Amino acid sequence: MDDLTPLRQLWLDRINTAADPAQIEDVRLAALGKKGEISLKMRELGKMTPEERQTTGKALNELRDELDAALRARKLALEDAALDARLAGEWLDVTLPGRPRPAGTIHPISQVMDEVTAIFADMGFAVAEGPQVESDWYNFDALNIAPEHPARQEHDTFFMHRAPGDDRPPHVLRTHTSPVQIRAMQQTGAPIRVIAPGRVYRMDMDQTHTPMFHQLEGLAIGRDISMAQLKWTLEEFCRAFFEVPSVELRFRASHFPFTEPSAEVDIRCSWENGQLKIGEGDSWMEILGSGMVHPHVLRSGGVDPDQWQGFAFGMGIDRLAMLKYGIPDLRAFFEADLRWLRHYGFAAGDVPSVSGGLSR
Ligand code: DAH
Repeated sequence: MDDLTPLRQLWLDRINTAADPAQIEDVRLAALGKKGEISLKMRELGKMTPEERQTTGKALNELRDELDAALRARKLALEDAALDARLAGEWLDVTLPGRPRPAGTIHPISQVMDEVTAIFADMGFAVAEGPQVESDWYNFDALNIAPEHPARQEHDTFFMHRAPGDDRPPHVLRTHTSPVQIRAMQQTGAPIRVIAPGRVYRMDMDQTHTPMFHQLEGLAIGRDISMAQLKWTLEEFCRAFFEVPSVELRFRASHFPFTEPSAEVDIRCSWENGQLKIGEGDSWMEILGSGMVHPHVLRSGGVDPDQWQGFAFGMGIDRLAMLKYGIPDLRAFFEADLRWLRHYGFAAGDVPSVSGGLSR
């Protein structure tokens, strides 16, 4: 029989020079795998005489066991070394002081949303919500904006992608918060008193327009809710929001498909040296659209227009924030610039409330 000593030495050398667990596995397959050198040698035992087979078989078995043990030992050693290297490389001194994270503040939009919500909650309005990806029907049809209505074009709508051949009615990024009126009426019926603050989208971009902005919708439906109550509600809101003793509103006849009659509302103000003063002066500034809810809209919401009536209004939250806090450029709202935020932002602990103060 062949002397197995050189073979043994060869494989032990290979095992001990393997540099990582993957190489160990290669060596194992080459020696002890199905077609490994040692395994093939063992297969040849069948051709030997019984005497030869006994001595060679024993020697091969011993060699196989020895190599197997050496492989396992080397693999363990390599794994230990790899772990040691990782522990050394990823070592971290947990007693070092933490890296200070840049402190943020409450964004003026969040602040104004909280202020507005606090004011209307105080007047008995609940907060309603709807999806930002809205169906064509909720965004337009239900609000009395027929397919051929020019308002559809005026809204600079973002349409959601549809696969070619898919001719279901399109979904849009809602162009206003008015569809929440319909969803709220469908959910709770009349009477109802809700506001709906939220994000809206239109294709527009300059100093006073961004493709995403924020609106506040209001809706109050009852047996005999009138335009006089709309006026009081808005005056009360403006007085509280701008934190002035009194305000004066001017209703200008206007047109919106979802209200009849409709009015745009201006607030008395003055501009002195670029400083806006709300509540006094000789100027008027438009702040919102409003009106008495159109019967078609009530019907879309499942409310009987012969039994119920009410008012709705909509305003831009970003613009309210700019006016109240003297922020000149709308685009800065969405640039996530920490220096800007530290200048215009609000402390996290100051939750606005009507009794405790809105902005401090
Ligand atoms: N949806 C209108 C817009 O985006 C704003 C608006 C006007 C809402 C009058 C109303 C309303 O509820 O009565 O321009």
